[in-house]
Amino acid sequence: MPPVRASFLALLPVALAANLLVSHYSGNLYSLSLGTEGGGNGTLSIQQTLRAGGVMPSWLTLDAASGSLYVTDESNFGGSSLTQLSVSADGTLQTGAVARASGGELHSCLYGGSDGKGFLAAAEYDPSSISTWKLPLSSSTQSLQRMTFTMDGRGPVPSRQDKPHPHSTFTDPTGQFLLSADLGADLIRVFRIDADTGHLASCGNFSTGPGDGPRHGAWWIPGGTNNSSSSSKQGVPGTTLYIVNELANSVTVWQVTYSLPSGGASSSSSSSSSSCLTLSKTQSIPTHAQGVTPGPGSKAAEVQVAGDFLYAANRNDKLFGPTSDSVATYAIDPRSGSLSFVESTDTHTYFPRTFQINRAGDLVAFGGQTSSTVAIVARDASTGRLGGLVATLAVGRPGTVNNEDGLSAVIWLE
Ligand SMILES: *[C@@H]1O[C@H](CO)[C@@H](O)[C@H](O)[C@H]1NC(C)=O
Ligand SMILES: *[C@@H]1O[C@H](CO)[C@@H](O)[C@H](O)[C@H]1NC(C)=O
Ligand SMILES: *[C@@H]1O[C@H](CO)[C@@H](O)[C@H](O)[C@H]1NC(C)=O
Ligand SMILES: *[C@@H]1O[C@H](CO)[C@@H](O)[C@H](O)[C@H]1NC(C)=O
Repeated sequence: MPPVRASFLALLPVALAANLLVSHYSGNLYSLSLGTEGGGNGTLSIQQTLRAGGVMPSWLTLDAASGSLYVTDESNFGGSSLTQLSVSADGTLQTGAVARASGGELHSCLYGGSDGKGFLAAAEYDPSSISTWKLPLSSSTQSLQRMTFTMDGRGPVPSRQDKPHPHSTFTDPTGQFLLSADLGADLIRVFRIDADTGHLASCGNFSTGPGDGPRHGAWWIPGGTNNSSSSSKQGVPGTTLYIVNELANSVTVWQVTYSLPSGGASSSSSSSSSSCLTLSKTQSIPTHAQGVTPGPGSKAAEVQVAGDFLYAANRNDKLFGPTSDSVATYAIDPRSGSLSFVESTDTHTYFPRTFQINRAGDLVAFGGQTSSTVAIVARDASTGRLGGLVATLAVGRPGTVNNEDGLSAVIWLE
């Protein structure tokens, strides 16, 4: 740890001048600032606290270019909302339109339109559904489409797989498809996007391992997410999807292929009605080192890719102390997209439900749900290794184990 910290400290003046946004299940949003203190350590401070984002703000979706923030509300007893806010470059939040939502939204993404930001889709865990809205929101915006899923009987983990539980919505790198990991149904659902109308059409369901409980996904593209061919309709050969499985505590690797109609006859802007994205499972790897079996309460949460490295956070594995959970680092094989386990390191949080790597790749912000803390950890962008704690801050009231309280999301404002 000391060498990593030392080399990071040398970079502090440049690296540390950042803002972060936080949502808390109590009904507050926070704008944080990360700065330096006298001795060179990082300091996190709360710049603004705002009561916005509905009854139980659950997730933050940012359009940094336009300074628009969208907040979903996981409350499910009527009165659930979807809130649009404006964010200025210094992190100041201002509440904009509040639209009605059907309830239970816990994750969302932007999709469609001319720039991939014309609509918002949200996963609704308890209602077993996905809803969409046209943007920008107004107080009278109604949802555009709502799809509710069913299944015959319970899954292999009956207490959690009583019915479908969509846990995320995210687009593929080409922007033509929207995916949803369904924890209850053990499915990755794929929908074709009509970019003009925002309509989603189911075009594929891919089964995970029984009892995997898929939760969130992250993409890797040969040559980096910057690879200019990634937005072409055919995608980049070798595009790989990683899904973190909450129930199995594993990451599954899926190779992606695009089945698009051949021939140049119809080269219109919207996807043909027969196109889809196909997923083929190539690997499953635990979120802990070989031989390490997490306790029964451990449940993987979030997955992120940076460069040729992948990170998956574990909630309640207590690998680094009674209230300190781990994150797994994997190296991505640049030829195949397959994963090899590198190490487990300390997130310095309890129940890291959320984390994000900054664009420079040298800092990771972990959000501990139950600790209700944000921890900034150093990252070596070339080796992918996570280093020491740079700064930490309690944000709002701590949560209680396994309840929908505490800190729900943290993102970098960039
Ligand atoms: C920086 O952080 C370290 C470790 O947390 C601490 O020991 C040290 O006192 C801090 N330095 C300053 C100047 O605050
Ligand atoms: C995917 O499954 C859902 C039910 O869970 C079904 O309504 C839909 O038609 C299926 N899609 C395809 C392409 O099979
Ligand atoms: C983008 O991906 C393609 C296909 O894998 C690869 O041939 C190309 O080298 C990549 N581009 C860059 C800039 O790495
Ligand atoms: C992406 O590509 C552009 C143009 O080649 C380059 O200027 C930029 O630095 C690249 N960004 C990253 C993150 O590699």
